[in-house]
Amino acid sequence: MKNVATVILAAGKGSRLKSGLHKVLHPVAGRSMILHLLDQANRLQPEKTVVIVGEFRDQVQAALGNDVEYAVQEPQLGTGHAVQQAEGALKDFAGDVLILYGDVPFVRADTMRAMLDRLHADDAPAVVVLGFRPADALRYGRVIADKHGRIEKMVEHKDANEAERACTLCNSGVMAVKGSELFALLSRVGNRNAQGEYYLTDIVNLANEDGRTSAVVECEDPKEVTGVNSRSELAAAERQWQDLKRQEAMENGVTLKAPETVFFSWDTQIAPDVTIEQNVVFGPGVKVATGATIRAFSHLEGATVGEGCQVGPFARLRPGAIMGKGSRVGNFVEMKNAALGEGAKANHLTYLGDASIGAGANIGAGTITCNYDGYFKHRTEIGERAFIGSNSSLIAPVRIGADAIVAAGSAVSRDVADGELRMVRAEQMVKPGWADRFHDAMKRKKEAAKASAKGDRTEEGKA
Ligand code: UD1
Ligand code: CA
Repeated sequence: MKNVATVILAAGKGSRLKSGLHKVLHPVAGRSMILHLLDQANRLQPEKTVVIVGEFRDQVQAALGNDVEYAVQEPQLGTGHAVQQAEGALKDFAGDVLILYGDVPFVRADTMRAMLDRLHADDAPAVVVLGFRPADALRYGRVIADKHGRIEKMVEHKDANEAERACTLCNSGVMAVKGSELFALLSRVGNRNAQGEYYLTDIVNLANEDGRTSAVVECEDPKEVTGVNSRSELAAAERQWQDLKRQEAMENGVTLKAPETVFFSWDTQIAPDVTIEQNVVFGPGVKVATGATIRAFSHLEGATVGEGCQVGPFARLRPGAIMGKGSRVGNFVEMKNAALGEGAKANHLTYLGDASIGAGANIGAGTITCNYDGYFKHRTEIGERAFIGSNSSLIAPVRIGADAIVAAGSAVSRDVADGELRMVRAEQMVKPGWADRFHDAMKRKKEAAKASAKGDRTEEGKA
């Protein structure tokens, strides 16, 4: 394949989102739209990537850093004018230019490749346009093409006549053009149209005037070129992404009890033969190994779940939670920066933070690792097969030895040796029969009080 450069349009900040955050930085599945797009575009190993920025450009630059080049477009006079701003960055570039929109985040690398292949077909089109047929074509620019996909005309909706508007093939905005031709064509684009803008689409019409042909490559699924201009379109993009990911997970052998209630992150990795119950949310950075079950209403983020583990229902795994093979975390258990050894269990009502728990350990209900003193975080280490009785507080830094037992209700602030029993509670007071004597005395007292109140009322009646 020839050298490729990508030009990504992101000069419009997206006013319809009514946001202080640039449109292309809004996340879908926990990752900004422009990073979704760059992830695919980078699979073509472009020699250069030029992002066209305008308002809020500092935000885009902060997010993408030096991995890409930037060209500023100010003022924003249309899509053609936007691409023109890349001329300086691409002046020594002789390969193919792929034009993408930062707010059309789901274009696949395969589609990009198909467009570049088409650009080098025997009929040598001047421009290759990515077309699609949406359910509702209303506001899109139209691609008027013959049945071989040769483009006769590109026309914006606002400039189109009835017959042109009746055409269902629309312009996604994505285009491929040879770098050696792009800027010569762009320099001829004018703005005499309904919107007074410099339309990128006009390069196709100008090439036609020169007797060149241009070609349309049609997306099989119009969802691939979904664009985002509003919060509701952002929500729709999220839905679309989630649906695809759920489908993909199931195709890879994951059981989803109620797929529409499971929410993945862009980087969630689930192995085959994992079962995920209803209403589970994955934040970024989660890996789940085969045979694990994630039960209903669990929330996982930055967590690694080992083979055959059980999580939840109602569990919360926060960043740095690592569950060894066959370990279990039950209802209302929270783990953060904590590792649970093979087969270890924390089944109920527990907080494990900054801790390591040995294989086969049993963490009783209500156990809390007290990891924070208000200034610093401290570690708790629990040895293999240790047994932590219910409602214990482990005051870090503290180490509980292997095979040790911590008695229920203990507040442990000093290390426990291997094999030791540690009980930290007040001595028990035992008084046989005391309760019986207490109840008898109190009942007698109450009856006497009642009798004397009755006597008083009788005296009053006589008076
Ligand atoms: C454009 C296409 C239209 C296509 C539609 C698909 C043109 C003339 N029209 O229309 O055929 O159907 O996209 O969504 O190309 N941008 C800049 N600078 C500008 C103008 C736009 O960077 O001066 C960026 C925007 O931030 C956006 C993208 O280009 O990411 C598209 O701009 P938008 O105004 O949404 O184009 P449409 O009018 O929708
Ligand atoms: Ca748009």
